[in-house]
Amino acid sequence: MQHISVAVIPGDGIGPEVMEEGLKVLKAIEEIHGGLRFEWDTFDWSCRYYLKHGRMMPENGLDVLREYDVILLGAIGAPTVPDHVSLWELLLPIRRTFQQYINLRPIKLLRGLESPLRHKSHEHLDFVVVRENTEGEYSDMGGRLHRGTPYEMAVQNNVFTRYGVERVVKYAFNLAEKRRKRVAAATKSNGINHTMPFWDEIVREIAARHPDVRTDIYHIDALAAYFVTRPESFDVVVASNLFGDILTDLGAALVGGLGLAPSGNINPERAYPSMFEPIHGSAPDIAGKGIANPIAQIWSISMMMEHLHQPELAGLILEAIEEVLAERKVLTPDLGGKASTAELGGELVRKLKALSEKF
Ligand code: NAI
Ligand code: MG
Repeated sequence: MQHISVAVIPGDGIGPEVMEEGLKVLKAIEEIHGGLRFEWDTFDWSCRYYLKHGRMMPENGLDVLREYDVILLGAIGAPTVPDHVSLWELLLPIRRTFQQYINLRPIKLLRGLESPLRHKSHEHLDFVVVRENTEGEYSDMGGRLHRGTPYEMAVQNNVFTRYGVERVVKYAFNLAEKRRKRVAAATKSNGINHTMPFWDEIVREIAARHPDVRTDIYHIDALAAYFVTRPESFDVVVASNLFGDILTDLGAALVGGLGLAPSGNINPERAYPSMFEPIHGSAPDIAGKGIANPIAQIWSISMMMEHLHQPELAGLILEAIEEVLAERKVLTPDLGGKASTAELGGELVRKLKALSEKF
């Protein structure tokens, strides 16, 4: 029996709603596999916790998480707490302390879904964005000066290290080697004339070691347009922290919206736990209504299975999602249906179990 410890952080808003369905899937996987046991502990670290305790997580929070094999997160954020507080005091410390320098975001149009791109179907939309997750534009180096005066100013530095860029670019090329052997790198070296030429240089150095991988370096603005006009030309897209963040929301919109889009925050060396979560936030506009789409959360569990060396289980979860989407019977409102979060979650679990007969 293999035991896997999971730190579960449901978070705020729809986070706990979609997590509930995710945990049903974990239970179902235990039944299906027989040799896997998930031992999870739930932590209520969130904006609610902040309002009670004045901090997003306890002082020793990171030490607690460090002991787990993996972290499963719902979503963090509430209108009652400034977003930069909830992000900088919980999510970013986890991503940085645990060197989760790869943010992996599949952009894949599942069978049964239509893209808002009229002429594109699922064979045109299947790529992965590798986003740098620890430095770049999201550095807290900078500050504010002369607050409240006409001279008030703010400075935020972009920080690109050779170590940080090399490791994310290497990961992207290694991933492309296992896929369709194409890397597109996002840059803006015309306007951002120090950090981005540095990023490009490193991309070219590493590309030279992968002569069989086709490499393209695109300015981010053009790249965003190509996502729409020729998404089939992409296989692996590598981008800095900010560019990757923006590109992946665009990508998510092309393949069915935020309710479907998962992500992994990965420490490839496995020295620390990796963290899996939906791309979406806490969606205060629909929180409490029981209509959030749980698929992004459940797909993030499929990515977690991949990370845990269980590719068959990862594939099975994705297949269950595709079948339920293709049947178009039980869908949440964001997908044009009338089902609740729990109804869609329940249907996915049923489908998963039915498919596992073949397992
Ligand atoms: P959001 O992703 O929460 O919502 C954007 C839109 O997508 C909303 O209309 C929402 O209803 C819809 N949506 C999102 N997830 C959905 C789902 N599973 N099913 C159906 N519809 C869904 O982004 P927003 O509104 O910018 O941020 C809300 C809060 O979430 C903020 O506090 C923000 O800081 C936080 N946030 C947290 C993230 C995280 O925990 N990783 C990521 C993004 C935002
Ligand atoms: Mg984002």
